[in-house]
Formats: sequence, structure tokens, C-alpha cells
Amino acid sequence: MGRGAKDAWSLTALFGIVFLGAAIALVFIRDSRRPWKRFSPEPKAIVPTLTGKPERCLTCHSGIEEISPAHPISAFGCVICHGGSALALSKTRAHRGLLGKRNPASLRVQEKTCGVEGCHTRQDNPKRSPSISVPLTLMATKASEVSKTAFALGWQSDELARFGVVETRDPFGLAPEPLKKRALLGNGLAPFKAWEHPLKARFVKNCLEFCHLHSGYDQNNPKARHLSGCSACHVPFRPDGRYLGKDRTINKGETGHAPYHRMTTAIPYTACNACHNQGVHSLRLKFFYRTDIPRASITDPKADRFKAYYIPQAQFARCEVELECIDCHTRTEVMGDGHLTGNKASLQRVRCKTCHGTRSSPPDLRTLETGANEAFWMIRSYRKGFPALRLGDRVVVADGNDPLPHVREENGRIVLHSKVYEKSWEVPLVFQSGCTQTPEKQHSQDCYLCHDASRSFR
Ligand code: HEC
Ligand code: HEC
Ligand code: HEC
Ligand code: HEC
Ligand code: HEC
Ligand code: HEC
Ligand code: HEC
Repeated sequence: MGRGAKDAWSLTALFGIVFLGAAIALVFIRDSRRPWKRFSPEPKAIVPTLTGKPERCLTCHSGIEEISPAHPISAFGCVICHGGSALALSKTRAHRGLLGKRNPASLRVQEKTCGVEGCHTRQDNPKRSPSISVPLTLMATKASEVSKTAFALGWQSDELARFGVVETRDPFGLAPEPLKKRALLGNGLAPFKAWEHPLKARFVKNCLEFCHLHSGYDQNNPKARHLSGCSACHVPFRPDGRYLGKDRTINKGETGHAPYHRMTTAIPYTACNACHNQGVHSLRLKFFYRTDIPRASITDPKADRFKAYYIPQAQFARCEVELECIDCHTRTEVMGDGHLTGNKASLQRVRCKTCHGTRSSPPDLRTLETGANEAFWMIRSYRKGFPALRLGDRVVVADGNDPLPHVREENGRIVLHSKVYEKSWEVPLVFQSGCTQTPEKQHSQDCYLCHDASRSFR
């Protein structure tokens, strides 16, 4: 070997050693900065069966609760609901494309998350499309509250709804007759604006900025006792807002989190009362929060229900306080029927007589004759251990043939199985009882004349 070649060789070796050293140092530096190392010793990949695409979110989010038994991690993973970059291992890159930040079920994004066709949108069945129907309800638009106030204060000359908290259109359109029935001026609602009118400005601030499905803790409303959108009902929330679960990334000292990464259809009354029964408006459009609600009842569905539910002046029958809201209110009433509405009456299905019947007739029952009856798919999402339905069973139906699959005839009696707890009640019937009602008078106010239970607590 010549001298020149030898020199070249040692030079290469030197470079090699320097390069290797640099590479080792680089790996070492990078290793000490691997952001996920804070949460897991090794990257963790899963391949959800529904997408077939690997994702590594669980590397950092180790310990997170499964969102619900209907959405197992093994089938759904995370990206199907949250978006994000499936394989990235730094927080910034992994969260690129995340939908709805902390709440993928907010109304701003739910169409792209919950509402993917085949999930909670089904073009062939608007009734099974909460992603379409929920944004059209009064709980999202407040259209009835707006039109009633506007009429009362002379801002408009009739009670037809023109405005909502955000612009909302009826996707299927309504014929003139239903438009009238639903107290709508047209097939859409424009956003209500204050237009430099001082009282209107107060109305927006005190009545329209909270307590509807477009508002919520995650929409920068730190007073809210609920998340926005579908999560307002389906995610149990606590006003102290601390996360109590096992996801290692979520800051446990911070407020504004749901206690667990959990959704449910067994919705307790506390979720409804996060908006309902919170206070009263004055004629000058001020909103007065109730100060008498026991603190414990905000977080604990089993705390003194009567005190939490009762608003001074309001009247209730005993069962309205003893049962959960959704033991009476139907799926259509809470999630809508696929059309826009401007008044409460058009979505009202359940009435006192739905369960109790009247002096002249027992409750309206339907026999489940085919497996296609909607009662069967409805109960599929009910709580674990919910009593099954069989062909030939008879269930109570509310107005508009809306079934209550949990209120059934059993051995000649009407039995209600709570949708929320493992609890059943026999429904006392007015039919053939000592009740002295007038059969034509079936409004709840008519019943409170003799059955107002709030009196006994005042
Ligand atoms: C490198 C670690 C890391 C990876 C990988 C990661 N995350 Fe996160 N994630 C975090 C941390 C830490 C937080 C806590 C909030 C914060 O610090 O911003 C968080 C918060 C979140 C939040 C709440 C957002 C908010 O604004 O509070 C969601 C939703 C989320 N992650 C989803 C995902 C999904 C989906 C993936 C996979 C595509 C993923 N993350 C991958 C670290 C990670
Ligand atoms: C079926 C849809 C769905 C799936 C699947 C899902 N999530 Fe969520 N996730 C939600 C909803 C709804 C919320 C808002 C309610 C909450 O905070 O729990 C949420 C919230 C979160 C948050 C924010 C919690 C907070 O309080 O800051 C994180 C982090 C998160 N998810 C991570 C994940 C990870 C990681 C996975 C995969 C293992 C996953 N999610 C799977 C629907 C889903
Ligand atoms: C995010 C706030 C919010 C939550 C949570 C909420 N509601 Fe409502 N709800 C409203 C608003 C706002 C209206 C109507 C406003 C108006 O009159 O325009 C309403 C109206 C109603 C109505 C009458 C009209 C209709 O659309 O049927 C019923 C019944 C009702 N809610 C029941 C419930 C039940 C049951 C729950 C719990 C499962 C619940 N609500 C949860 C805000 C909420
Ligand atoms: C105001 C409360 C409320 C809101 C908001 C709400 N839900 Fe529901 N949801 C319920 C109740 C109550 C049930 C149980 C229905 C029953 O008793 O049959 C339910 C049931 C369901 C079910 C079970 C199966 C079915 O179709 O009945 C799905 C899926 C669902 N909701 C999806 C959604 C989605 C998606 C959103 C948001 C676009 C949403 N929900 C918003 C109250 C709500
Ligand atoms: C025992 C059954 C029952 C329970 C429990 C119940 N409701 Fe009702 N609710 C009704 C009936 C029936 C009506 C229709 C009133 C009528 O016939 O005059 C109604 C009407 C309503 C209305 C419309 C009132 C209006 O201004 O037009 C709202 C809002 C409402 N309920 C919310 C709730 C909430 C929130 C809960 C739980 C905290 C609840 N309900 C619990 C039976 C019940
Ligand atoms: C979804 C079914 C359902 C609806 C709707 C319903 N109830 Fe009841 N009701 C029950 C059940 C179950 C009981 C027995 C449990 C109890 O006493 O709370 C009951 C009990 C009663 C009783 C006898 C108990 C007592 O001591 O007061 C009266 C009176 C009554 N309901 C009135 C009403 C009125 C008024 C309405 C309308 C606002 C109504 N119910 C709506 C299911 C219902
Ligand atoms: C004028 C007074 C009056 C009115 C109005 C009235 N009730 Fe009654 N109701 C009674 C009396 C009295 C009884 C019998 C109480 C008893 O047997 O101890 C009764 C009993 C009942 C019972 C219990 C039956 C049983 O076997 O325990 C139910 C349920 C009931 N009423 C529902 C209603 C409903 C729903 C309305 C409104 C549509 C209504 N009542 C209106 C006076 C009234």
C-alpha cells in the first residue's frame, strides 16, 4: 500500500469515528428529548379494526378510559373521533388536524366526527341521524325563547321564529303547512343580532350566550356546567371540572375537564339541569341564577333531588321529581325529529296521560309485531342489564306514535324500567281509579290543581 493510500485510509477512519460519535451524541440528545418518554417507556401502536390504520396516540395517552362500551378502543382507536396525525410522536405534530380540541362532539365539528355517514348520520333514516337532528332542536337554537321575547317586547309583530343563536337551516325543507305548525317564518333561522339596541344587547348577553348546545365550558364559558354539543348530555360533567381518570397527559389540577373520558346514554337529571331549572329571567332581561341549589346536587345525581329540581313558584307531580327526566322525555323530544322547529309544542310527545291514561281510557299501547319496530334498536343503547324486549310485547306510545320502550305491559300492569338506574316502578293508572279529573283536561297544569307535590315541600 502506498503512502497516499494509507493517509487516505486513516483520514476516512477519523471521519468515521467523528461521524459515529456525532451520531451517538445526536441520538442521545434526541432520546433525552423524546416527548413521549414522559408518558410511556416505548411507543405504543394499535390498529383499530374499523380503520385498519395504525395509530400511536396511546403512547402518550396511556391509561385513558374507553369512551364507551359501544366504542371499544380495539375497534375505534382515537383518530376516528378526534382526527390528528396517527403516527406522530410529538404532541404538536400528533395534534395537527385535531377536531374540536378537547371536545370532538361540539356542534362546530360533530358532523365530521360523530356525524360521519353510517355512524350518527344515516341518509336513509333521518330519525336515526342525531347529527342532523340535534342542531335543529330548540336546545341548540333557542328559537322559541327568542321569538317569544321578541314578540313580548314588540321587536316583531308575531310569534313566528326567525332567529336562533346561530344560523340554522332545515336540511330537508318544510311545506308551508308544517312551517306554520312549527311556528317558523321560513326554512331557516338567522343569527340574532343586537344591532346597537341596548335591550337587545342585554338579551344577547343575559339570555343567548349560555345554556344552549352551542355554548359550554369548552366554548370559553367557564361558568357552564356542561360541555357543548352532544357532550352536553352524553358526557357526565362536574362543575368543579377536575379530571379524575387515568390518562397521564391530562392536567389534574386544571378545571374544565370531564371527570372521565366517558359517554353514556343513561343520562341523569343533573345533565339536563345543567341548563334547565337554573334560574329565572326578569322583565328587564336580567338573568338571576338560583342560589338555593344545594352544591352537592350539582355533582351528585343522588343528592337532594327535590331541592335541586324545584324552582320557586313551579309546580310538579311527585313522579316528575322521582323519575329521571329521560324516563319521561322521549328520544324525539331531546334529540329532535330531523326538522327545524320554532316552538315547543311541535316536538312535545309525552304527556301525563301517556303513562297514566285518563278516566275514560287506559294508556295507548302498541304490540311489537316485527323486529323492525324502532323500539328494538332504541333499547340497544340503553344501560347494561336493561330488560330485553320480545316480539309480541306491548309498549306505551306517546303522541305521534313515539314509543317508550321502557314502559310496558307486564302481567296486566304497566311497568316503567328506568333508563338511568336499575330500578322499576309500577305506573298507577287513572283509568278505573278514584281520580276525579275531567278527562278532557289533560294539561299538566290541570293535574297540579290536585297533584302538586311541591306544596308538601314548601
Ligand atoms: C407526544 C405525546 C402525545 C401524543 C403522541 C398525542 N398526544 Fe394528545 N395530548 C398530549 C398532552 C401532553 C395533552 C395535554 C394537553 C396539553 O398539554 O396541551 C394532550 C391533549 C390531547 C387532547 C385534548 C386537547 C386539548 O386541547 O386539551 C386530545 C383530544 C388529544 N390529546 C388527542 C390525541 C390524539 C387523537 C392523538 C393521536 C393522533 C394524540 N393526542 C397524541 C400528548 C400527546
Ligand atoms: C367515540 C368517539 C371517541 C373516541 C373513539 C375517542 N374519544 Fe376522546 N373524546 C371524545 C369526546 C366526546 C370527548 C369530550 C369529553 C371528554 O372530555 O371526555 C373526548 C375527549 C378526549 C380528551 C380530552 C379530555 C380532557 O378532559 O382534556 C382526550 C385527551 C381524548 N379524548 C383522547 C382520546 C384518545 C387518546 C382516544 C383513543 C384511545 C380517544 N380519545 C378516543 C370522543 C372520543
Ligand atoms: C345545553 C343546555 C341544555 C341541556 C343540557 C338540556 N336542555 Fe332541554 N332545552 C334547552 C333549551 C335552551 C330549550 C328551549 C329553549 C327555547 O324555548 O327556545 C330546551 C327545551 C327542552 C324541552 C322542550 C322543547 C323540546 O325541544 O322538546 C324539553 C322537553 C327538554 N329541553 C328536555 C331536556 C332533557 C330531558 C334534557 C336532558 C337529557 C335536556 N333538556 C338538556 C337547553 C338544554
Ligand atoms: C339534550 C340531550 C341530548 C343531546 C344534546 C344529544 N343526545 Fe343523544 N341521546 C339523548 C338521550 C336522552 C338518549 C336516549 C334516547 C332514548 O331514550 O331512546 C340519546 C341517545 C343517543 C344515541 C343512542 C342510539 C339512538 O340513536 O337512539 C345516540 C347514537 C346518540 N344519542 C347520539 C347523539 C349525537 C351524535 C348527538 C349530537 C349531535 C347527541 N346524541 C346529542 C340525549 C341527547
Ligand atoms: C314524570 C314525567 C316527567 C319527568 C320526570 C320530567 N318531565 Fe318534563 N314534562 C313532562 C310532561 C308530561 C310535559 C308536558 C307538559 C304538559 O303536558 O303540560 C313536560 C314538559 C317539559 C318541558 C316543556 C315545558 C314548557 O315550557 O313547555 C320541559 C323543558 C321539560 N319538561 C323538562 C324536563 C326536565 C329538564 C326534567 C328533569 C329535570 C323533566 N322535564 C322531567 C313529564 C316529565
Ligand atoms: C313516563 C311515565 C310517566 C309520565 C309521563 C307521568 N308519570 Fe306520573 N307516575 C309515573 C310512575 C312510574 C309513578 C309511580 C312512581 C311515583 O310515585 O313516583 C307515577 C305516579 C304518579 C302519581 C301518583 C303518585 C303521587 O303520590 O302523587 C301522580 C298523581 C302522577 N304520577 C301524576 C302525573 C302527572 C301530573 C304527570 C304529568 C306532568 C305524570 N304523572 C306523568 C309515571 C309517569
Ligand atoms: C280535581 C282533583 C284532581 C285532578 C284535577 C286530577 N286528579 Fe288525579 N287523583 C285525584 C284523586 C282524588 C285521586 C285519588 C287519590 C287516592 O285514591 O288516594 C287521584 C289519583 C290519581 C292517580 C293515582 C291512581 C292510583 O291508583 O294511585 C294518578 C296517577 C292521577 N290521579 C293522575 C292524574 C293526572 C295525570 C291528572 C291530570 C290529567 C289528574 N290526576 C288530575 C284528584 C285529581
